[in-house]
Order: sequence, then C-alpha cells, then structure tokens
Amino acid sequence: MLARPIILAIESSCDDTGAAVLAGGQLLSNVVATQKVHEQYGGVVPELASRAHQQHMLPVVTAALQEAGITKEDLDAVAVTQGPGLLGSLLVGGMFAKTLALALGKPLLAVNHMRAHILAHFLRDPKPTFPFLCLTVSGGHTQLVVVKSALEMEVMGQTIDDAAGEAFDKTAKLLGLPYPGGPHLDKLARQGDPQRFAFPVGAMPGYDFSFSGLKTSVLYFLKKETAANPDFVAENLPDLCASIQHTIVATLLRQLRRAAADTGLTQVALAGGVAANSGLRTALEAEAVAQGWEVFIPDFAFCTDNAAMVAMTAHFQFEAGDFATQLTSPDPRLKL
Ligand code: KG4
Ligand code: ZN
Repeated sequence: MLARPIILAIESSCDDTGAAVLAGGQLLSNVVATQKVHEQYGGVVPELASRAHQQHMLPVVTAALQEAGITKEDLDAVAVTQGPGLLGSLLVGGMFAKTLALALGKPLLAVNHMRAHILAHFLRDPKPTFPFLCLTVSGGHTQLVVVKSALEMEVMGQTIDDAAGEAFDKTAKLLGLPYPGGPHLDKLARQGDPQRFAFPVGAMPGYDFSFSGLKTSVLYFLKKETAANPDFVAENLPDLCASIQHTIVATLLRQLRRAAADTGLTQVALAGGVAANSGLRTALEAEAVAQGWEVFIPDFAFCTDNAAMVAMTAHFQFEAGDFATQLTSPDPRLKL
C-alpha cells in the first residue's frame, strides 16, 4: 500500500522535459529527457525547446508512471511548473497537466519553479530545518532567499542581469568551450591557478548580483592578449578558467556571507545547476568551517531542472490545500 497523496509532477520550463511520481513525500520515480538540439546553437532556442517538449512529454510521463509501478488512475493529483520559464515550453507541460487532471477528475497543482529548486532539499536526508538561507544558482537564475517555511519565502537579493550559470557559459564560450560551458570550465579550472588573472566584477550594494561586467572584461582582456599572441587562450586555458571561476565564486560568497551575517541564519543551502561547481563547493565548505555554517547541497540530479523537486513542492501545497484550477495559465515571469 503506497502512502498518499500520490502526485505526478511535470516540469517543462526550459530545455528539460521531466516527470516524477511522489507518494506520501517519498520519491518513486524521476525521469528527465534533456534536449541535445540546442548544443549546435550555443544556447536554448525557445521554439525548438517547445517542439522537443511535445515529443518527449508522453514518453517521459509514461516512463515515470511505469518506474513508480503505478497507473494514472492511482494518482491523487497532477502538478505542473507554472513559471518562471519560457512561455512555449511552459505551455506544453501546462496543457498536458490540465488535460490529464481534467480527464482523471483529479486536482491540479501549479508550482513555482524557483520554489521547487529550493524545496528539492526535502527529497533526501539530510534536510535543513526552517528557517534557512538558500542560494539558487543556475543557467536562468541567481537568487538569495530566506526560506521561512515550505510556503513562505522571501527574496533577499538576485541578479540584475546575467545569472551565475550564464556567466560561466558566456565566458566559457569566449574561451571556445562547447555549450553549456560551465562544466567544461569547472574541469579545466581544477588544473589552473585561480590567482593568475584578475577580472573586475562590480560590487553590488545589498544582496544583489551583477555578472554582465565579467563577460565584458574577459572579452576585452582576451582581445588585447590575443592581438599580441594568437595562441594566448590555448597556452593559458586552465589558468583562465580557474581565474574566471574564482571571480564568480568569490562574488557569490561575498553576498552569501553578508546575508548570513545580517539574518543570523547558519543553515546555508545551495540549489540549481551551478551547485555542481567544484570551486563553489570547496569555497562553501571552507566558509562553513570559518563561519560555523551547516551546508546543504542536494544530489546533482535534484540540482539541475527535474520534476522531483516540482513534486516535492506540490506535496507541501497539497497538504496546505493550495490547488489550482483549469483557469490557471503559465506565467513566464512568475515571482517567488
Ligand atoms: O539548473 P540548470 O540545469 O538549468 C537552469 O535552470 O538554468 O543549470 C544549468 C546551468 C548551466 O549554466 C551550466 O553551465 C551550469 O548550470 N553548470 C555549471 C556546472 N554544472 C552545471 N556551472 C559551473 N560548474 C559546473 N560544474
Ligand atoms: Zn531551473
């Protein structure tokens, strides 16, 4: 006998099509189809993302139900990411979830993608306890959030331009690395000297972030150096990667340190795809020792876009009676 509620969750906010089944808060399946089609363009192409979601949706949902060992009639609710994200992508998941909920006569739950990244921490032990501080860093977002409860969150700071993942991807592109460049830059940075090159990054007041200046300063620096030596990038690649990574990580940690000091919170959680970055993990662990923080980082599969985190968030909403209706529509700019 499975614990209830049994929730099927669907994620389609960007370029990953995901479906997951959660029963009584326990994850039974988590299926993700990543779209390779964008690699050749060096970034996500929205129209191609929507089309790929259309192709992947039914197979991914079918696999999630099968892996969970249930049929759609066993479900108590259907959950879907409402936003933020790409409108065309959100529409595919949204229409699918609404249709399925209507056909089954089961309630619908509309989930905020940014809340889901944060509540991914409740899929596995060790879990933080409320309140805690969460830094969400991915290709689309950079947010510093005070998490008061599963339903009550407050944004302390966020990026005013590029997200941290974009800073990795755009600078990696300047170095000629394949898309998405973050993981490639991370790998090369491990053999490099982080102090070799200094890149200025605008210090933001409060708890906000700004990364667009970094890309520009790297661009001008490389232009100047390659004019003198065309092999400059090839000859200095690990040091360039390590120095760029060091700059991004130092910026993230500076604001995090400030937020933790001002709120007095000592539980610090990391979310989003950039949580995989080895430089960020190492720096955060060192900072934790220095500041007496307890650090939480979910498994990588729960850091990148996935439907398990959407299911976890939907579980909390189900318990609180926070249901959506057939009138619900996607909101590409949905606020936390
Ligand atoms: O959370 P995610 O899968 O998708 C979004 O919601 O955006 O995050 C993807 C981002 C990309 O920018 C990718 O380059 C970055 O996370 N990323 C990394 C690493 N692994 C993934 N950035 C730096 N170092 C990594 N190891
Ligand atoms: Zn995301």
